[in-house]
Amino acid sequence: MNLTYPRRVYTEFVTPLQHLKKLSSMLGGPNIFVKRDDLLGLTGGGNKTRKLEFLVADALKQGADTLITTGGVQSNHCRMTLAAAVKEGLKCRLIIEERNHKYNPQDNGNVFLFNLLGAEQIKVVPDGTDVAKEMEIVNEELKKDGRKGYIVAEGGGNDLGALGYVNGAQEILKQASEMGISLDHIVTPSGSGGTHAGLVTGFYASGSGIPVTGINVRRKKAAQEEKVYNIVKLARQRIDFNEEIPREAVKCFDEYLGPGYAIPTDKTFEAIHLLAQTEGLLLDPVYTGKTMAGIIGLVEKGYFEGQKNVLFLHTGGTPCIYANTSTILEHNHSYVETLVESR
Ligand SMILES: Cc1ncc(COP(=O)(O)O)c(C=O)c1O
Repeated sequence: MNLTYPRRVYTEFVTPLQHLKKLSSMLGGPNIFVKRDDLLGLTGGGNKTRKLEFLVADALKQGADTLITTGGVQSNHCRMTLAAAVKEGLKCRLIIEERNHKYNPQDNGNVFLFNLLGAEQIKVVPDGTDVAKEMEIVNEELKKDGRKGYIVAEGGGNDLGALGYVNGAQEILKQASEMGISLDHIVTPSGSGGTHAGLVTGFYASGSGIPVTGINVRRKKAAQEEKVYNIVKLARQRIDFNEEIPREAVKCFDEYLGPGYAIPTDKTFEAIHLLAQTEGLLLDPVYTGKTMAGIIGLVEKGYFEGQKNVLFLHTGGTPCIYANTSTILEHNHSYVETLVESR
């Protein structure tokens, strides 16, 4: 496997891999472990840091002075790309697509951080806009001013960004082996697909054969699996892994998505409350809350039957909870109410 691409290092340590003991015993299924990628470097942590290590290194190699990217109203990817730009002394321009939510510059969470970190430009566009084209337009504007932009694909979700999680898979394998744990399954949120694709490629190319299941946060099953598999095919070539990775290695569930992107369900809220009050772990309503709802649902269905150790990839996104505090508290779960009453 060839991973010798230019890379910036934004995390100087290995993120913890922890046993969620209380959650595991409550669910009565396999041991649930968490990989704390919410603690990765760059402002606020999260999965995008691993992708940006490769993407920003590429931007610097190409002599860019400005990063251009896109995301939803509370985009973690936009915040992290902006944070990487700040760290590297680059400018950053954002295209914010109003998917299911209106942009309000006074919002808390990531919107607050776009302002605090100093985005050079925030262009707000309606849902369904061709954001790739919008990013090209911004790039042309920069060119006219004698500047050099670098377009970071939406969500960092291309084969170069996916290398972050090919690398991440190696880190998980080494860490689990050092801890004497054998992992039977990995569960990850699946959005732009780069994280999911990187993990599949990484575990496959390392010969470990650990299955990876994606919990969809935006698309239906067929569309998401196709999207992820397309990245897997390119990532495999990029690392010179010559064996075909079977299509069945990409598996997604859309049952936990609810009405759409960034619209949490009751089960999402339940998972957020449960993890906060059993493990002191913060989950967000867009990605990790839905993914944990998926893990709980899949344990209940017996999906992990016969498997001992399941790893939840915590991909971050916690700044987003501060833009949703009242909605999260309004959806207090009865289990939590019982605990509160007994205090
Ligand atoms: C917190 C968080 N988790 C998961 C994802 C999904 O990762 P990917 O886009 O690689 O599928 C994102 C993407 O924006 C994210 O911000």
